[in-house]
Amino acid sequence: MARRKIVAGNWKMNKTPKEAIDLVNELKPLVVSDDVDVVFCVPAINILTVGEAIKGTNINLGAQNMYHEESGAYTGEISPNMLQEAGVKYVIIGHSERREYFKEDDEMLNKKVLKAFEHGLTPILCCGESLTQRKQGIYIDWIRMQIKIAFQGVTADQAKTAVIAYEPIWAIGTGETATSDQAEEVCAAVRQCIREIYDDATAEAIRIQYGGSVNGKNANELFSKPNIDGGLIGGASLKADFGNIVNYK
Ligand code: 13P
Repeated sequence: MARRKIVAGNWKMNKTPKEAIDLVNELKPLVVSDDVDVVFCVPAINILTVGEAIKGTNINLGAQNMYHEESGAYTGEISPNMLQEAGVKYVIIGHSERREYFKEDDEMLNKKVLKAFEHGLTPILCCGESLTQRKQGIYIDWIRMQIKIAFQGVTADQAKTAVIAYEPIWAIGTGETATSDQAEEVCAAVRQCIREIYDDATAEAIRIQYGGSVNGKNANELFSKPNIDGGLIGGASLKADFGNIVNYK
C-alpha cells in the first residue's frame, strides 16, 4: 500500500496568538488536500487557539516539543497528557535546534518518543547531520545511531505509525536545499535502518520526511522520490507558499 504523504509546518518561535489566528485563516483554503496529511506544529501558547481555528478543516494540530513526564516539578515544561487533552496529534521530537541550544541528547529523546506513544501522540522524530559530519563521510552512521537510540523499546506496531524527519543541519534556514538525490540517499538509509531494527512491514509503513529549505518550487522533485514521504517545513510554513508545498504535484 502506498504511504500517505505528510507535510508539517514547524512554526518554530514565531507568531503571537493573534498572529497565529491570522496565519491559520490565510492558509486554511490553501492547504486543502485529499491525499496529503497536513500538520501545523505551533508554539505551545498557540495550541488551544489554533486548535479552535482549525476545527472542521483538514489541518492536524502539532506541538514542537514535550517533556517525558506526566506532571511534577519541571518548571517551564509541557507534558504529553497536556498536549493530548488539548487536541494535539503530532509532536516534533529532537529537532536539531533543541539538540543544539537546549542540549537534548539521544537518551532523552528516546524517553520522549516512548512517552508520546504512551499518550497517543505521533512523534515526528528529527535526525540529521552537520556539514562537518557530511564532509567527513560519517553522516549515514551518525543518523543510524540517532534512529537506533530514539527507537529503543518502541514496538513495531508503534514504529509503523511514527514519522521520521531527516533534516540536514546545513540545509535548515539557509536556503541551501539538499539535492533530491542527497535527500533520497539518507531517507532510504533511514528506512533500511528501520528494516534492520524491525521488519519489512514496519519499514514500508513508517513515514520519512525531508526538511531543510523546502519551498513550493522544490517540493515536487523532493516528494517524488520513492523514500521521501513529505516534508517538515520551517520558513515557508509561515507563508502562502505552504499551500504550494501541500499541493506539490
Ligand atoms: P527551513 O524550512 O526554514 O529550512 O527549516 C526547516 C526546519 O528546521 C523544519 O523543522
